[in-house]
Amino acid sequence: MILLEKVQKIYRAKHGDVAAVQDANLEIRQGEIFGIIGYSGAGKSSLIRMLNQLEKPTSGRITIGGRVISAITGKELREARQEIGMIFQHFNLLWSRTVRENIAFPLEIAGVRKEERQERVDELIRLVGLEGREDAYPSQLSGGQKQRVGIARALANDPKVLLCDEATSALDPETTDQILDLLLDINARLGLTIVLITHEMHVIQKICDRVAVMEKGSIVEMGDVLEVFRNPKQEITKRFVKKITDSIDTNEAIEHLTEKYPSGQVVRLKFIGESIEQPFIYELIRKSNIEVNILQGKISQTPNGSYGNLIVQLNGPAEEIEKAISFMEQQQVEMEVIAHA
Ligand SMILES: Nc1ncnc2c1ncn2[C@@H]1O[C@H](COP(=O)(O)OP(=O)(O)OP(=O)(O)O)[C@@H](O)[C@H]1O
Ligand SMILES: [Mg+2]
Repeated sequence: MILLEKVQKIYRAKHGDVAAVQDANLEIRQGEIFGIIGYSGAGKSSLIRMLNQLEKPTSGRITIGGRVISAITGKELREARQEIGMIFQHFNLLWSRTVRENIAFPLEIAGVRKEERQERVDELIRLVGLEGREDAYPSQLSGGQKQRVGIARALANDPKVLLCDEATSALDPETTDQILDLLLDINARLGLTIVLITHEMHVIQKICDRVAVMEKGSIVEMGDVLEVFRNPKQEITKRFVKKITDSIDTNEAIEHLTEKYPSGQVVRLKFIGESIEQPFIYELIRKSNIEVNILQGKISQTPNGSYGNLIVQLNGPAEEIEKAISFMEQQQVEMEVIAHA
């Protein structure tokens, strides 16, 4: 659906060139929700803005739905852009227009007739759940409602692709979840491809099928969200994953317990998909003569299955701990020793 080949973006600035995106190769599939995560300045916005040519790549090729969008200009580009909607962190609404008028705006530009326009706007208002607020001005709306207007406006011309640049970063956690649910719903209902960029792993975990990690202009890791959670390769990816799996207190608790029980061992267990449903801890205690302290446990839901993470401390004679570890190694559960006594 979307193909990036050796895409580069270099900003020429007075004080020197900035390589914002370097050698990006990416294939985004029809109908998936694809996330790009990275810290501030990683080049995420530069990358996503090249998809609808708000930024021109310095070199490389971008193809969307069979059309090489990086090679077209003028009328042809304007037409191609109608198939690509975009939403923004700060909504980019027209402040002097009502909700209805904001949503109608792209339809006016596309030359849609008035009656048809009204019908379409009503349909979009229902889709994003803004019934009753049609005549409000953006300044009279909450952040979540503003983003709903942004989404409705982006979908007005029935695009095939929706680009989201930090669409939930200005919202509180609860509103973020509501907007993410709306995006999931739209993706399922309309079957459109969504590309989103974020610096929050929670956003990736909740709605993305696949993820790419960006660091200093390069894509350093990419894969199915569940697989990246299970087995993050790069340091930066591990840091993002830990934000979901470990609470701030975890490290302190581990330190405290290893001090208190110098003979024990702390291990992290990773459960993917069906292994979550097995009575693993029960079996572990039954098969070995050790104490098991649960330090932290969490199950996260991704669109493609659940991911469980359990940190436990094992106490007992060294040979019993060894036995327990070899039992765990035989199970469908991945294990990592995180603190030796
Ligand atoms: N118009 C521009 N001119 C010059 N440099 C730019 C321009 N836009 C972005 N940059 C630089 O390119 C790099 C990548 O910026 P970009 O906005 O793509 O990062 P980002 O990952 O979206 O960051 P954030 O999470 O803060 O939005 C940064 O070093 C930035 O300073
Ligand atoms: Mg950005």
